[in-house]
Amino acid sequence: MSDKREIDDVTGVETTGHAWDGIKELNKPLPKWWLMTFYASIVWAIGYMIVYPAWPTLNGYTKGVWGYSQRAAVSNEVQGAKAAQATFRTALEKTPLAEVKNDPDLLRFAMVGGAAAFATNCAPCHGRGAQGFAGYPNLNDDDWLWGGTLPEIETTILYGIRSGDKQSRISDMPKYGVDGILQTSEIDDAAEFVLSLTKRATDTAAVGRGAKIFADQCASCHGAEGKGNPELGAPNLTDDIWLFGGRKADIVQSIFTGRGGSMPAWHGRLDAVTLKSLGIYVHSLGGGK
Ligand code: HEC
Ligand code: HEC
Repeated sequence: MSDKREIDDVTGVETTGHAWDGIKELNKPLPKWWLMTFYASIVWAIGYMIVYPAWPTLNGYTKGVWGYSQRAAVSNEVQGAKAAQATFRTALEKTPLAEVKNDPDLLRFAMVGGAAAFATNCAPCHGRGAQGFAGYPNLNDDDWLWGGTLPEIETTILYGIRSGDKQSRISDMPKYGVDGILQTSEIDDAAEFVLSLTKRATDTAAVGRGAKIFADQCASCHGAEGKGNPELGAPNLTDDIWLFGGRKADIVQSIFTGRGGSMPAWHGRLDAVTLKSLGIYVHSLGGGK
């Protein structure tokens, strides 16, 4: 060791004066910028530990002077979203059904809520995409048994169809076969006439006999031309859209039993806002009468 400054012969760099077994240590200090950054990060780390939660303790952790917690931050956000939702819910509750479409934000809120409620409550019968199944109407087309305006759809959803509710939509097609109102051959003729409404009849004589039966027995509900009547939930028989199937055997079965499909009432089971949202959602599916 010596105090004297010494330049290393090989590299031309000053040495620190330290030498071990003839090996000398070159004096190459860390760059200033690096050191400053290093010290700054130490200061920052200490500051961080004071301000934010940092160290585990025996029964928890140091909270930091700002008391920050991610859990609290998330629950604040959830609180905020709930408040916004409450605002929309109140607005939807107050807005008459027909006027919801005038407020785009409210309409979107109702559509999203309606779609969710539909998936939970209605999809088991009407299908996920509201496409329906035999006996369960497709709600996407603009063909309605009980009417496709907003108030008509609302009434259907609130009180159901043959649901047993006091205000339920009720209309019973007679069980022509079961109750012996028509002979089997007459039912067959009537079915042949119904087929003729969609140009599928094969037996003209039967169509002629069936036309008379239809005028006597069926026109009061299905209309003289078979175009149906939404006041009575009587389907249009001319549009080739069938609730219970359009093959002759299906039609014979419909006339024989009168069918009598039933849809539950939803008022009392779902809250007012959900019911309104459902009405708006279903109305939007059908092309909007
Ligand atoms: C248990 C099965 C079932 C469930 C659940 C159900 N429906 Fe229905 N829905 C039916 C049946 C069956 C009909 C047809 C009844 C008939 O034959 O007239 C129907 C008819 C309807 C109609 C009338 C369609 C038209 O053409 O006029 C609407 C609207 C409707 N449902 C909406 C809904 C909504 C909205 C929900 C959920 C809140 C729902 N349904 C849940 C069985 C169901
Ligand atoms: C009191 C009113 C009424 C009378 C009378 C009536 N119907 Fe109906 N008809 C209905 C209703 C309501 C439905 C729907 C039943 C349901 O949704 O469960 C229906 C359904 C049908 C269907 C099934 C349609 C489909 O889309 O699957 C056929 C077919 C039909 N009727 C034919 C007839 C014929 C033929 C007669 C006469 C012999 C007749 N109806 C008399 C009310 C009536």
